[in-house]
Amino acid sequence: MTTPTRGSYWITTFGCQMNKADSERMAGILEGMGYKPGSGEHSADLVLYNTCTIRDNAEQKVYSYLGRQAQRKRTNPHLTLVVAGCVAQQEGESLLRRVPELDLVMGPQHANRLETLLEQVASGQQVVATGEHHILEDITTARRESTVCAWVNVIYGCNERCTYCVVPSVRGKEQSRSPAAIRLEMEELAQRGFKEITLLGQNIDAYGRDLPGITPEGRRQHTLTDLLHQVHDVAGIERIRFATSHPRYFTERLIEACAQLPKLCEHFHIPFQSGDDDVLKAMARGYTVERYRRILERIRERMPDAAISADVIVAFPGESDGQYRRTLALIEEIGFDQVNTAAYSPRPGTPAADWPDQLSEAVKVERLQEINALVERTARRRSERYRGRTEQVLVEGGNPRDPSQRMGRTRTNRLTFFPDPAPSPSPGELASGGIQPGDLVNVRIEEVRAFSLTGVVVR
Ligand code: SAH
Ligand code: SF4
Ligand code: F3S
Repeated sequence: MTTPTRGSYWITTFGCQMNKADSERMAGILEGMGYKPGSGEHSADLVLYNTCTIRDNAEQKVYSYLGRQAQRKRTNPHLTLVVAGCVAQQEGESLLRRVPELDLVMGPQHANRLETLLEQVASGQQVVATGEHHILEDITTARRESTVCAWVNVIYGCNERCTYCVVPSVRGKEQSRSPAAIRLEMEELAQRGFKEITLLGQNIDAYGRDLPGITPEGRRQHTLTDLLHQVHDVAGIERIRFATSHPRYFTERLIEACAQLPKLCEHFHIPFQSGDDDVLKAMARGYTVERYRRILERIRERMPDAAISADVIVAFPGESDGQYRRTLALIEEIGFDQVNTAAYSPRPGTPAADWPDQLSEAVKVERLQEINALVERTARRRSERYRGRTEQVLVEGGNPRDPSQRMGRTRTNRLTFFPDPAPSPSPGELASGGIQPGDLVNVRIEEVRAFSLTGVVVR
């Protein structure tokens, strides 16, 4: 079967790893249809924005991009304009009213259906696909950005109801993939040379709760812990990570599995959102600061060098100065390797958006600046522990800012740069071609910064 030649495509992705993973699958579908990667957003024949609506500024960015494309379409009617992802799901039809030049508006649950949807567009329709949809097992080949590290979705959607968050309304109900399908995808990735897998879910600890099966001991048969045991021995995969963890569901068994299974990396992304119990309650997070502390203590008992990262929100409605300071204190106390910070942004359809005690923009900016400075100081302090140590680094490619250097990550996920020790073959020996993406090398760390390291390869 020959694939027809179509024009070129361009995808711009906003938001989280789920969106990045969806974009890779959609790029795979487009290439399967005969589209070629374009050289720019303003020359491609098909432009797809995979959008994020987690905060208002993420959403607004999309509208300014769309404005420019709408203008282009007026002089170039053959341009196909697609909005996918979470803004598409949230706005649906009303996006068409706002930007009538759009050809296709499609929610995240429809990513695997891109080809069918584009066929409808080709028959002259404007298409909106935002209905609740059972995500079919992905039979497409994603076009992956990296040749070394790959994402594998394990659970879609989220059943939590955090009072600030749009994700459940745009990503829908939890849908776990079967362990067999996940393992198969990992085996295929290993065959194609991938070395590191990050298992993905908005609330990955919920994995399996929608799958049937109870063990003889009376517990759920499919949990994240069981999944890790089932997939960790895929030959060729060197490292496994998972994200995002929810403190409410993080279990002892999971910590034990991570400590025991050698490919599981000592890096945990466990958002805590606030260091104050009353704020956590208002957020409906379902845990206390004390519970969070205990999880981290347990992780550090079993894996003393583990890196911990988190997400936090400042200036949640009604957050007092004292409550905010408890968040700062928790960051100091735990000593995070990395914290993603955000000022609270009211989102349509979420309970907290309607609460009367919204904080001013000035307070948001002030708290965010202060907390960011603290996060950087804490990260720098954590980086110090690497100085002089030799770390195993998985090489991902070149340092985009310095072509003489290579770039990779430690098991704890610290970005690490090092000069490529150019091969100097003795006469008669073949040049090895230097260090390649996918190689595991030992790097002695000589320079440390808050979020990255530099060192030299030691053999
Ligand atoms: N499922 C993950 C993360 C989901 S969204 C979890 O439960 O932690 C990623 C991050 O965006 C969240 O951790 C939160 O810190 C932030 N976020 C979500 N909604 C937000 C809002 N309305 N305003 C500001 N930050 C928000
Ligand atoms: Fe949003 Fe909460 Fe679900 Fe995370 S767990 S995606 S913050 S609702
Ligand atoms: Fe954004 Fe949707 Fe992810 S709102 S953070 S792209 S789930």
